[in-house]
Amino acid sequence: MRKVISVVVSFMFVMAFFTIANAADVKYIGVKKCKACHMKQYKAWKKTKMFKSFDNLKPGVKAAEKTKAGLDPNKDYTSDPECLKCHTTGYGKPGGFKSIAETPKLAGVQCEACHGPGSKFSKIMKKNKKFKLAEVKAVGWILPSEDEKGCMTCHGGDSPFSEKVDPKYKFNFKERLEKTHEHFKLKYEH
Ligand code: HEC
Ligand code: HEC
Ligand code: HEC
Ligand code: HEC
Repeated sequence: MRKVISVVVSFMFVMAFFTIANAADVKYIGVKKCKACHMKQYKAWKKTKMFKSFDNLKPGVKAAEKTKAGLDPNKDYTSDPECLKCHTTGYGKPGGFKSIAETPKLAGVQCEACHGPGSKFSKIMKKNKKFKLAEVKAVGWILPSEDEKGCMTCHGGDSPFSEKVDPKYKFNFKERLEKTHEHFKLKYEH
């Protein structure tokens, strides 16, 4: 019995190592790449506020909301790292948003903010349409409903727009999952 346990434990360590090693050099690639194969989700996402989320950092935009949250409505926050980490995609990470001049295509809260950085998993999706979910998960792909933590890095404590400012900002995981983008039937089963 003990031998079985130790074999299982070492297997888990090996798997964890590969997951970390694989996930280490994945990069953010931007919504345009996902759009090519997921047009329906792209169109639905484009109608949400997440698509335009970067604009909220511009002076004069959402002035009343900013004032209420203790921010300066006339200030230009478009290069403030404190705001960029939540209003862009992959800020400060490999391939992620740097500045609006260098990486305009990663502004806003894009697919990869919820589904993970796509350089490796999108290649797997391209190579084999009937890929296994475990394969893409091993290289950083995320099924959002499985873990609230990914959302909470932005919807949690240090957002100026928390439920302390207004109850409407409260993050209800189940409700929010449904409001992300319209969902469509997948062509392939996994
Ligand atoms: C070359 C085409 C291609 C690209 C590029 C691509 N995908 Fe996919 N993706 C697929 C295919 C094929 C499936 C299988 C389901 C289907 O047929 O729609 C899939 C499935 C998915 C699923 C659902 C998995 C499941 O079964 O639950 C998600 C989420 C997803 N892709 C996200 C992304 C994101 C985010 C990007 C961009 C970073 C991306 N994909 C890029 C082809 C692609
Ligand atoms: C990179 C940061 C980030 C992550 C990660 C993130 N969000 Fe958000 N989300 C935002 C921001 C910023 C907004 C506000 C958009 C705006 O008004 O500027 C938002 C808005 C939303 C909205 C409202 C969309 C609309 O158009 O009304 C929903 C729903 C949502 N997020 C759900 C989620 C869920 C579920 C997760 C986790 C799977 C998640 N978010 C992860 C930053 C993030
Ligand atoms: C920890 C992540 C985080 C940080 C940091 C952050 N935001 Fe946000 N911001 C969010 C989320 C999440 C929302 C959406 C809240 C919701 O709808 O529940 C949001 C919403 C907003 C809104 C829209 C509010 C509304 O009622 O429509 C504005 C404007 C905004 N943020 C500006 C900023 C500015 C300016 C900064 C920097 C000073 C900043 N944010 C920093 C996560 C963040
Ligand atoms: C705010 C988080 C969030 C963002 C941003 C987001 N998704 Fe999703 N996506 C979800 C959730 C939640 C599901 C449902 C699966 C689940 O329950 O985890 C999903 C499901 C999917 C699926 C499976 C089929 C379907 O329609 O449900 C695909 C494909 C997909 N997303 C692609 C994309 C693409 C492409 C983008 C960018 C254009 C994107 N997603 C942006 C949260 C997000």
